[in-house]
Amino acid sequence: MRLKSLIPVAMMLSTTPALAEKGKPEAPDREVWVTMGADAVAPMRESFKSAGWEEPTAVVAKEQAAMFRLRESQLSRLATLMHEKFNRCAGFITSETREEALATLEPALAVAPQNLVTYTLNNATTVNTLMGAMTEANVRGTITMLSGYSTRYYTSQGGVDAANSLLAKWKGYVPAARTDVKVELFRHTAWAQPSVILTITGTTLASEVVVVGGHLDSINSSGGNAPGADDDASGVASFTEVIRVAMARNYRPQRTVKFMAYAAEEVGLRGSKEIAAYHKNNAINVVGVLQLDMTNYKGSTTADVALITDNTNAAQNTFLRNLITTYVKIPQTNSTCGYGCSDHASWNAQGFAASIPFEATLSTSNPYIHTANDTLARSANNANHALKFSKIAAAYVAELAKGTAQ
Ligand code: BES
Ligand code: ZN
Repeated sequence: MRLKSLIPVAMMLSTTPALAEKGKPEAPDREVWVTMGADAVAPMRESFKSAGWEEPTAVVAKEQAAMFRLRESQLSRLATLMHEKFNRCAGFITSETREEALATLEPALAVAPQNLVTYTLNNATTVNTLMGAMTEANVRGTITMLSGYSTRYYTSQGGVDAANSLLAKWKGYVPAARTDVKVELFRHTAWAQPSVILTITGTTLASEVVVVGGHLDSINSSGGNAPGADDDASGVASFTEVIRVAMARNYRPQRTVKFMAYAAEEVGLRGSKEIAAYHKNNAINVVGVLQLDMTNYKGSTTADVALITDNTNAAQNTFLRNLITTYVKIPQTNSTCGYGCSDHASWNAQGFAASIPFEATLSTSNPYIHTANDTLARSANNANHALKFSKIAAAYVAELAKGTAQ
């Protein structure tokens, strides 16, 4: 039942004209339409019976909800019952007209069906075109650029400058003819660092959105330099390479694809929280979210990638396992964070399907993060490992957003 206008119990008690249980109403006891969940019907009958009232008959009885014509003076007893028995703060809806009451019985319509997508692997040509154009040097270049700032802390000048230089880098990849592509800052009111978003509008399914992201900010828990080469220049660099080849190979997705470098992850996933809420509040149909956070430290000798299974979507994780087996052909395993450890959790919390393929198992991941030693040197000064995640992201985009490339 769609609860259109829940009236707080306290308010209802004060506006209900004198209580029939204790005496005569001062105002004429009008009849109103009342709708409630089906589970409340029997308790209401019991309660009315014990007050010596006639048992109400439902005007409409559906599986989930029912509609009654009650006297206004009966509402306070109903409210008390709801509160005591169901711990609901009204638990029923009163309407002045029959039509209004009937409307409250209809299931919610307004919100477009979300997250409905079928996972198929049938776009190998596009996947291989994109993957084949990727290079380690480009991924390394982005890591070097971002980790060159002494810090990208969300309130620092470096944090702002890094956002602007990433914006410029992405803009530089976009040919003038690509009017379907826009690159912009997403500003946050509470701190200086913006998030950066590149959108490729889909050709045939533009309202369905595929998100690939990672966080732009860095942190040093003891306050010194925060190069954040692995956490998370690597993740941003991995998908920046997807952007580069997508533009170089004239990739035209059927679904809309948004690449996002989030501000303020290290201080509570704050940038992604605002962005995920924005998508939810505007009923934007985000069909899948891929998070890349820490992709360049090869901590495990047995698995190149660990799929995080908590705060993520199981069906999409299966899709990713299949993509990795089919296209990237690297050993994989599962791992857990045990908490919402990165921006995927912001999307997951809003009900969107999110996944995070990670550089290693949690216990074998980069021990230098959040220190001045989170540098490319700790990954042998190359981006070989992060390039594997560029390929995972390319396969994910080409098989979820579909589309062609040359
Ligand atoms: N990249 C880390 C998360 C991480 C660390 C994953 C180690 C796996 C292994 C991320 O940038 C981070 O530090 N997240 C915060 C989340 C918190 C602010 C909600 C964390 O883990 O403390
Ligand atoms: Zn971190």
